[in-house]
Amino acid sequence: MASLTVRQLDEKLKKRLRLRAAKNGRSVEDEVRTILRSAAGDEAAFAEVSAAPKPGRKPADAPHILLIIGGGIAAYKSLDLIRRLRERGIAVRVVMTAAAQKFITPLSVGALAGEHPYLDLFDAHSEFDVGHIRLAREPALIVVAPATADLMAKMAHGLADDLASAVLLATDKTILLAPAMNPLMWNNGATRRNIALLKAEDVELVGPNRGEMSESGEAGVGRMAEPLEIVAAAQRLLAPDSGVLAGVRMLVTSGPTHEPIDPVRYIANRSSGKQGHAIAEAAARAGADVTLVSGPVNVPDPRGVNVVKVESAREMLAAVEAALPADVAVFAAAVADWRTAANSREKIKKTGKQSPELALVENPDILSTIAHRKAGRPKLVIGFAAETQHVVEHAKQKLIRKACDWILANDVSPETGIMGGDSNTIHLVTAKSVEDWPPQSKTEVAAALVARIAAALSERT
Ligand SMILES: Cc1cc2nc3c(=O)[nH]c(=O)nc-3n(C[C@H](O)[C@H](O)[C@H](O)COP(=O)(O)O)c2cc1C
Repeated sequence: MASLTVRQLDEKLKKRLRLRAAKNGRSVEDEVRTILRSAAGDEAAFAEVSAAPKPGRKPADAPHILLIIGGGIAAYKSLDLIRRLRERGIAVRVVMTAAAQKFITPLSVGALAGEHPYLDLFDAHSEFDVGHIRLAREPALIVVAPATADLMAKMAHGLADDLASAVLLATDKTILLAPAMNPLMWNNGATRRNIALLKAEDVELVGPNRGEMSESGEAGVGRMAEPLEIVAAAQRLLAPDSGVLAGVRMLVTSGPTHEPIDPVRYIANRSSGKQGHAIAEAAARAGADVTLVSGPVNVPDPRGVNVVKVESAREMLAAVEAALPADVAVFAAAVADWRTAANSREKIKKTGKQSPELALVENPDILSTIAHRKAGRPKLVIGFAAETQHVVEHAKQKLIRKACDWILANDVSPETGIMGGDSNTIHLVTAKSVEDWPPQSKTEVAAALVARIAAALSERT
């Protein structure tokens, strides 16, 4: 059988081959094979053409994620990330920066990924067929974890002086960044400006989270998102239509309740429904079958969601019970703790003498009622805790008292602007841990929560 060496072809032909290969997202060798196969019309003859594949290389069209590992302490978590992706059937190809190789070895990465990582832009072997273009074009998604301040600065300004940055500049694929750095680096004006530029280019972000740094005594926003969070975010980007919550029945409550005093007056609170509605919409986008039980709000109904509108706490409980069974229930509504003991059928008239006395009685506790159910309890019951002091401490007590699985606690003191505002700062309290999320828009909180729910459900299965 004849053997073919592409290197011996004339320059003009090689250039045309390279262009054609890059356009089709193949290596030059794969392109030559494809041409020969179609010319011969014979699969067996094609298989013997001696443009031998490099050891361990995945076929060009195999769907995979390209993971770029930057040089940060969190690089060790990328090893677990590779494992988590592969156990979900997602193939991973890896590029390591020179700095990343100071933290973890190509050997460990290669052993976990099942093929050698790519390390060098000027590697004669892989660059013979313009390897960095191939690396940039072939993956279904590019994940950068940890995304260093340096890598993000290079991306924001179009630098391409090593393999990682050249690939990031040459790609037309979605890029998901998992930033990880010291809180001062994260809050530095240069990093803030670079993040804003990257967001404007539709680059996706997961994390960073708030927490302890590896540097002793330092804490703040900068911890890389956990591997399972990154996996969930990647899965959401890989399959936005089928979705990470496909087949999951989800119940969400949202907004305030109105407790009538008489036909025209009621007791209410400042909840806008923005957070609960954003969660319902994010879950529906992730493929869940969502029922939203909403108190009176001025925000539009989320798309793709079955909305049940109620007024009072008792109506909300009845609608919640009617919406069960559900796999996951998120209680984001600010349910009034009390209602008036007597709801006057007639408008209470001003007499000019004595003011009416409003006697109050306690409303049913919807979160606790559902979380304590013996039969038909959702697998994951998630509550919110709106506090104005000792936020996390109160949330921990609430988690136990109400028997729910997670509490999303937030400080709703007037100066935070959270109640009715567009952003939120969440502390996710579980039986095992407290996670401090950075200040985010309510839409971002919803996406992060959906990713956490998806990760928790997939961990259980
Ligand atoms: C011990 C140590 C830890 C570091 N951790 C981080 C980090 O977590 N995040 C970060 O952005 N840079 C960190 N750096 C700095 C980067 O390694 C440095 O900016 C490097 O040039 C990044 O290269 P890369 O972006 O090509 O991977 C660290 C440096 C050292 C020495």
